[in-house]
Amino acid sequence: MVSSPLLFPDFFRWGTATSSYQVEGNLTNNDWFAAAQTGGYIYQDQAAGLACDWWNRAEEDFDRMVTLNQNAHRLSIEWSRIEPSPGVWDNDALARYREMLIGLHQRGIEPMVTLHHFTNPLWLTEQGGWDNEAIIGLFERYTQKVVSVLGDLTPIWCTINEPAVMISHAYGLGRFPPGIRDFNAWLRVAINVVRSHAASYHAIHRLLPNAQVGIAKHMVLWKPWRPFLPNDQIATHFLEYLFNHLLLTMMTRGITRVPGRRSYLLPETANTLDWIGLNYYTRYRIQFELFSSQLKPRFKPGAMKGPGEWGEIHPQGMLIMLKQLWQRYRLPIYITENGIPDHTDAHRPEFIISHLSQVWQAIEKQIPILGYYFWSLVDNFEWTEGYNPSFRFGLFGVDFETQERHLRPSGKLYGEISKQGGLTSEILAR
Ligand code: BGC
Repeated sequence: MVSSPLLFPDFFRWGTATSSYQVEGNLTNNDWFAAAQTGGYIYQDQAAGLACDWWNRAEEDFDRMVTLNQNAHRLSIEWSRIEPSPGVWDNDALARYREMLIGLHQRGIEPMVTLHHFTNPLWLTEQGGWDNEAIIGLFERYTQKVVSVLGDLTPIWCTINEPAVMISHAYGLGRFPPGIRDFNAWLRVAINVVRSHAASYHAIHRLLPNAQVGIAKHMVLWKPWRPFLPNDQIATHFLEYLFNHLLLTMMTRGITRVPGRRSYLLPETANTLDWIGLNYYTRYRIQFELFSSQLKPRFKPGAMKGPGEWGEIHPQGMLIMLKQLWQRYRLPIYITENGIPDHTDAHRPEFIISHLSQVWQAIEKQIPILGYYFWSLVDNFEWTEGYNPSFRFGLFGVDFETQERHLRPSGKLYGEISKQGGLTSEILAR
């Protein structure tokens, strides 16, 4: 099918995203390294090890970004590096991050900086991590330190990556450390996370009045497995609110109602988003059995889905989520992550085109979308999947033995799209 070109606005950011523990290497002072030692959380109990060795060779990958015509990159700062023990700051680490951000600018790449991407310093975990209210002040102090040193190098800050994923996996499903399954803990932690975000938001704005601060929010397209059954419908609504909207409601309105529980009024958390980052990956169909109280994802035979429990690939969900975010919150949007685990690269090129087509349609509908950060530039450590070969997300494949990179066809394609500023007729025809 040949279509007319889908061109994006001139200001559009064409980027990729990464995170500290997943790419930097030699991080041993955080809870994910500890989880590899405890065992039971990660594929083959793997730690990230050298990962992509960014601490030593990030610039080589920045050069690769240039070859893909990128003008933006989202990366994260590792709290356990900056503050290896409480109140002790590692100035060399901060200097290295300065060097990295300058390196991006020198290549015409605008950095977006995430302050927290899943990992906590060990000393903080020992104090109860997110389940201790003290984290609010500690996260604020860490924010102040980072922003006072790096603030001149970017106005775009992302406080916390995927808070709902982190809370749900760590305190609801027990899959991320500390492996807790308790809805009361989930709620306590959710409040601490939102208050930490708010404290960080205000701290950034005190230091950088023109900063643009947001979060990266993972949104799942939830659907009832049996659309005609109230069980599945109610469970779907519940997840949609709890997972997709509860935290955003608190961060925009400062108030929220937790189904079956109480309402929370937290005025200091209201209006603490200047933009919303959408991380969109999958659709899940949900089945809920009343008698056993079992809630589980179900997959139709032949559905286009990722490996293991990874959900369905459903590009139309991108537009649905963008519309939903815009209608509810009226804030500018960055697509802070979108990608597919595909070690063969058989599906990634089509994935990129089909999802970007949806983004383009959203822009046509006047939804203010500022940029797209593909997950990810390079293969990297994938949390509970560790280095499971089925979970490769990179535009560049990485040989973790030799640190060699190879450009995948999808990388070449994304590079062309970024160069052209969208999907040209020629790209669509192919
Ligand atoms: C996370 C990334 C992760 C990616 C793929 C997101 O949930 O922010 O760190 O690697 O999705 O699973």
